Amino acid sequence: MKILVTGGAGYIGGAFVRAALAAGHEPVVLDNLSTGHEDAVPTGVELVRADLRERAVLDPLLARCGAVVHFAALSIVPDSIADPVTYYRENLGGFLVLLDGVREHGPARLVFSSSAAVYGDGGGRPFREEDPTRPVNPYGGTKLAMEQTLAHVAPALGLRAFSLRYFNAAGALPDHGERHDPETHLVPLALEAALGRRTLTLFGEDYDTPDGTCIRDYVHVADLAEAHLAALAALERGEGGVLNLGTGRGHSVREVLAAVERVTGRSLPVARGPRREGDPARLVAAVDRAEAVLGWRAARPDLDAIVASAWEWARRLHGG
Ligand code: UFG
Repeated sequence: MKILVTGGAGYIGGAFVRAALAAGHEPVVLDNLSTGHEDAVPTGVELVRADLRERAVLDPLLARCGAVVHFAALSIVPDSIADPVTYYRENLGGFLVLLDGVREHGPARLVFSSSAAVYGDGGGRPFREEDPTRPVNPYGGTKLAMEQTLAHVAPALGLRAFSLRYFNAAGALPDHGERHDPETHLVPLALEAALGRRTLTLFGEDYDTPDGTCIRDYVHVADLAEAHLAALAALERGEGGVLNLGTGRGHSVREVLAAVERVTGRSLPVARGPRREGDPARLVAAVDRAEAVLGWRAARPDLDAIVASAWEWARRLHGG
């Protein structure tokens, strides 16, 4: 199937493009390259370098694709706190334009990249899809607004859709990994520290968690990519809705840093900092709904293996 992949030059989008190609699909990438990279798009895949709000570009692409996978968004929590208006304009505004195009041209299947950031601060247990959504940062707010928009729009348009709530994407493929500028994510920053390129600042040790640092559910980007293929297949069966994509296991920041030290064999320069605004203490996925609906579960849940794949990529990127 021909699949329009918005944000396909980015980290998770690029991993999906590779999985889609391997599964025999024909991905077409629409990306404005504001955070993506042209060379993240595999050779032979069509890359349309444009903003998705350019209807003259978007509409013909929609008309010739059988599904849309919508990754394109701004996704950095601290940036969203600094500039929420831009986050809502880009994320929600862009999505509304996309849905307008879908209304006129189809296609009738859509997979939307949502986020664990929609949950906010919860209790000590994994989040289930039906749990209350109370985002504690504007980024999560934009994703929740997009989910809610989709929930209203999809039935009206006869659109079958999934909102996939990613937990913390991590790890790399041999030829594709995380490349943000500036980088804000824990695993690549810790690997840069292992390479001697920086000191890692640990944001807060006074959370209500066993070691006082934040807990996240790190899920391999290749697993996320495969979940999207399963979601597209499930749409064909008439399924849809909201699903968590995680491993169901949480790791604290300290545990991640220990994994980085084990995998790299290097000790990390770590500085202690205050809490970072907008960070929930604990985000871990309940994974049974994704398993039941998609027949998918993370095949690469081991933290050391996730870090090892990211380490290979970091050395390739930075040398060392
Ligand atoms: N952290 C540090 N030091 C750093 C960077 C991060 O201590 O230099 C900590 C953070 O405080 C947080 C944890 O590491 O506790 C993970 O932080 P990341 O920045 O790697 O990821 P976030 O959890 O903030 O956000 C990511 C994505 C979001 C997504 C979210 C879902 O950026 O898009 O995961 O859980 F919504």
